[in-house]
Amino acid sequence: MAERETWTTRVGFIFAAVGSAVGLGNIWSFPFQTGSNGGAAFLVVYLAIVFLFGFPAMLMEFVIGRRSEKNPISAFGELGFPNWSFAGTLGVLGSMVTLAFYSVIGGWVLSYIVGSLTGAYFGDAGAFFGSVSAGGLAVGTHAIFMAMTVGIVAFGVQSGIERATKFMIPAIIVLLLGMAVWGATLEGAAAGYDYYLSPDFQYLTENIASIVPAAVGQAFFTLSLGFSVMIAYASYLGRDDSLPADGGAIVVINTLVALLAGFVIFPVLFAIGVEPGSGGTSTAFVGLAGAFGQLPGGAVLGAAFFVVLLLAALSSAISLLETPTSYVVDNYDYERKTVATALGAAIFALGVPTALDTGTLGWYNDVVFKLLLPIVVLLFALFVGWVAYGPSTDELTQGSTFGDGFTTLWLWWVRLVIPVGIGLTLVLGVQELLVKAQILESAVILA
Ligand code: TRP
Repeated sequence: MAERETWTTRVGFIFAAVGSAVGLGNIWSFPFQTGSNGGAAFLVVYLAIVFLFGFPAMLMEFVIGRRSEKNPISAFGELGFPNWSFAGTLGVLGSMVTLAFYSVIGGWVLSYIVGSLTGAYFGDAGAFFGSVSAGGLAVGTHAIFMAMTVGIVAFGVQSGIERATKFMIPAIIVLLLGMAVWGATLEGAAAGYDYYLSPDFQYLTENIASIVPAAVGQAFFTLSLGFSVMIAYASYLGRDDSLPADGGAIVVINTLVALLAGFVIFPVLFAIGVEPGSGGTSTAFVGLAGAFGQLPGGAVLGAAFFVVLLLAALSSAISLLETPTSYVVDNYDYERKTVATALGAAIFALGVPTALDTGTLGWYNDVVFKLLLPIVVLLFALFVGWVAYGPSTDELTQGSTFGDGFTTLWLWWVRLVIPVGIGLTLVLGVQELLVKAQILESAVILA
């Protein structure tokens, strides 16, 4: 079997991990969450939570990956606990289901890039969304997006993922910066910034009980935790890299990109007086697209915005495909190209129902992110904190200049605090799923 690859440079690893973390969530959820939850006041709480929950949880996946130098399923056996492989397996399944519908959304973005250039959504953005989001066209663009993902992963860690993300991340940042500068010249800019960041401490304190668990969940989500991608990526790391330093860099860059997105989105929305809404699919694809349609230079701006979305989605998608690919390549004697293609085809098929019906897509999304993600993060926390804590703490100090005090604090944090945080998000997620199921049920009864 060929020798296992490693990242060529530290920056290569950081960009790849940032590529996974920076996704649709940074651009179409985070700014809206900030705007509607108290602006700058929310931001302070969010930043604290990302560093208190997201950052230490990311380090859990890093230590498992680098210690074992194995894919997320075999890693547990390699560390001496084969019974725990089910945790990694759940994560990998989560990756595959996520990619199945993430790719469908990636396909919509492709349609929007073309639609920006042709002006196809300028007249009626809602109708355009309807025509590209479900049906034959959506299946086709889903296939194209998946083929792009396979095309990158097939080339491997160095000439595929590392080379692609080294170009994609700077491109995302440069395009967003350019659009933010242009956004500042729009008439709605001041009102947009005001909506986005003006601090509302009263709202925050009144709603802190619901905001905190939501922010903990968002912290895991935005850092791509739970689906084992950070185990897979860290397994290609050299021993002299500092895990806490790299993790810190990834968290900071991911947050800056999310923040920057708000400086593009709100001036655009306020320039034409569109209600910001709550973010998500319809705001991005109908509200924002509609705004681009009305602004001078909208074709170019719209295209640039959707190219950013495409790069963000694609750099996340390759991490989702790498996770199962690494498992097969580590354990069976198949060519990486063959493995990536076969897995890509299977995941494509899994995604077809979500390309035919956006409601189905919503269910895939809810089950993996509200249920599976917190469960897997909890399993990883128990494993790292209570089962394999010896090798885990040892691995954390390897190559790191953070002292023993940091390691001890981290261990107890993983043992006690992270599980409590996950418990909160899990309860919240289950509640939301139940409410949704109930609404569905009563709709069925009404019909
Ligand atoms: N972090 C991604 C975003 O912000 C979404 C995501 C969650 C993800 N978990 C993932 C992406 C795992 C890739 C792998 O949009």
